[in-house]
Amino acid sequence: MGWNSWNTFGPDIDATVVMETADAIVSTGLKAAGYEYVVIDDLWEADERVDGRLTWDAAKFPDGIQPVADYVHGKGLKFGIYSCAGSHTCAGKPASYGYEEVDARTFAEWGVDFLKYDFCYAPPGLDAPSLYQRMGQALRSAGRPTLFSVCEWGSNKPWEWGARVGGHMWRTTGDINDSWASIVDIGFERQAGLEAYAGPGRWNDPDMLVVGMYGKGNVAHGGCTDAEYRSHFSLWCLLASPLMIGCDARRMSAATRDILLNREVIAVNQDPLGRQGYRVGGILHGIETAQTWAKPLESGAIAVGLFNLGYRDGRLAMVAWQSLGLVESRPCRVRNLWTGQDLGVHTGSFTARVDQHDVALVEIAPLG
Ligand code: GLA
Repeated sequence: MGWNSWNTFGPDIDATVVMETADAIVSTGLKAAGYEYVVIDDLWEADERVDGRLTWDAAKFPDGIQPVADYVHGKGLKFGIYSCAGSHTCAGKPASYGYEEVDARTFAEWGVDFLKYDFCYAPPGLDAPSLYQRMGQALRSAGRPTLFSVCEWGSNKPWEWGARVGGHMWRTTGDINDSWASIVDIGFERQAGLEAYAGPGRWNDPDMLVVGMYGKGNVAHGGCTDAEYRSHFSLWCLLASPLMIGCDARRMSAATRDILLNREVIAVNQDPLGRQGYRVGGILHGIETAQTWAKPLESGAIAVGLFNLGYRDGRLAMVAWQSLGLVESRPCRVRNLWTGQDLGVHTGSFTARVDQHDVALVEIAPLG
């Protein structure tokens, strides 16, 4: 859990934004809710290496990276940075191919705790796993525990080799943007079937959150409604995805805070069992489009999201116990995870009314 600069700031990242964001993560309660990593994405770099080392854009980071990392650490948070497995980053800055060891040492010296490692300008003829393995090994050799975030966009099935090369999370798709169409494409269409590859310390990453962007910033694309952001966040929690905030954490609306800070919903994401949710099924096309996703929890309960992806408000969405592996006659207590409301004891099935692009996120807990 954390924050990354790319979705909102893109090229306009600098030391002030990072430090103010760290302040906001503490003052708004995001830190207390579990958000921990403050990650600078691409375009922090100078155009050229100096003495073979990556260095910073002095206009954006006048005192360098280390004081910014120190500031973030001083807030009790962790610090992340970005590089790329090819010769250049996606935005054309110098990257780490052939410099893995020196870059990993540089990052360790600066106090980096998280490395997002992209896939642009990869040298043709070299395979993705070995490019990522080079940096995975270099990070271990550098001796500072570093969360290794593989950003290979799912091109070479990184879920099959990401953990083997030292990755802790790996992107499964191309880039998200701030639109409902992107959430549907990346989340509802492309994650089903990857659940077997995730577990504690090895996570599928359907990209950073767009919650709270409202059409502003680097990946703005029309924006979403609060219901759409709530569905997006619910699905990412059911998927046990990394929760990397992409909005301007210094200026969150009340609705954005309500979504990003909901303890019971976050608890689904962070459940210690570490199971990624799976798609139970749905009506995949047309006006009635709907999907049901379920995530088994350590307690024995199941978190279930009933999503209305169609265009009819008040759609009745039903989940049958049998589709969750529950015996039909088993009484279960149902709880609305967004509101904390106890919805009573149900047997055989549960039905909720869900407005368009919204979700009913419930916990279904079998009673003895
Ligand atoms: C790629 C990544 C994005 C972002 C940009 C930066 O597109 O997938 O998440 O890091 O590069 O240039």
